[in-house]
Amino acid sequence: MSLNFAQICQALAKNGVANPRLETRLIMAFVLQCQPAEVFSDSALTTEQSRQADEILRRRLQHEPLDKIFGHREFYKFDFIVDKNVLSPRPDTEILVEEAVSLARDNMSILDLGTGSGCIIASILSEHPQMQGTAVDISAASLDIARRNAENLGISPRLRFIRADWFNADICQTIGQKFDMIVSNPPYIPTKDIATLEAEVKNNDPLAALDGGDDGLQSYRRIAEIAPQLLNAKGYILLEVGINQAHEVAAIFTLQGLKLLKILPDLSGIERCVVLQKA
Ligand SMILES: C[S@@+](CC[C@H](N)C(=O)[O-])C[C@H]1O[C@@H](n2cnc3c(N)ncnc32)[C@H](O)[C@@H]1O
Repeated sequence: MSLNFAQICQALAKNGVANPRLETRLIMAFVLQCQPAEVFSDSALTTEQSRQADEILRRRLQHEPLDKIFGHREFYKFDFIVDKNVLSPRPDTEILVEEAVSLARDNMSILDLGTGSGCIIASILSEHPQMQGTAVDISAASLDIARRNAENLGISPRLRFIRADWFNADICQTIGQKFDMIVSNPPYIPTKDIATLEAEVKNNDPLAALDGGDDGLQSYRRIAEIAPQLLNAKGYILLEVGINQAHEVAAIFTLQGLKLLKILPDLSGIERCVVLQKA
């Protein structure tokens, strides 16, 4: 028997999925290869489509998020490939991108520390067709995904990729140049809180993208140490932060001589993006 909208929706709701109607629409749209708005509660699936929907449902009920099952996710204005090796881009991060796009000028150079899927730097370079960028990550697998995303957006010739650990003593030499802007969304969850995250996150986003050390701030301390060497005079740094971290993170960077320009809220009103400038 073919699966239908009501059956998928009931299975999701029964298993505690927060928005079962929306997710049902997304699953049906994926297998029907149409827009979610074109799915109706009486849309019919063929036997093959029903088999695909059943397989997606099976994975979703094991708490795998839909973007990881579908292999891509919308972020800002673009569509990004995602897999288990990269953090799924979050809407919370779009505020950082919007601010960077508005501060950036076409001849600027930009560095992304912890690029993951490449969603931040690829979005900014797509909006500024003359900008050049460098994307750094510790994970070779995530750099592969970021490269594919850069390719899809047609920005590969302007983006350099470096596999490196920002805790390495010679990180600034490895990167080898100064920039007009640094963007970073480093891991910021305190280690002890990782176990309390929902299964969708802790079992499907890489640990290296989540774990910010004992108090969640270990990567910010290191990035604050190296940022003055990596920034040109008047260069900007934009950082995504976790809940209640904005002021502590701002203090970590002002101690290194950077000037706080602003702290911006995300769409839920949480202080999410800290913007500083080198003197
Ligand atoms: C929170 S994710 C952000 C990914 C992407 N920029 C985004 O906003 O969706 C943090 C990224 O930093 C990388 N990372 C973690 N520790 C690192 C380190 N010591 N050196 C370089 N990259 C690191 C992780 O592999 C991960 O891709």
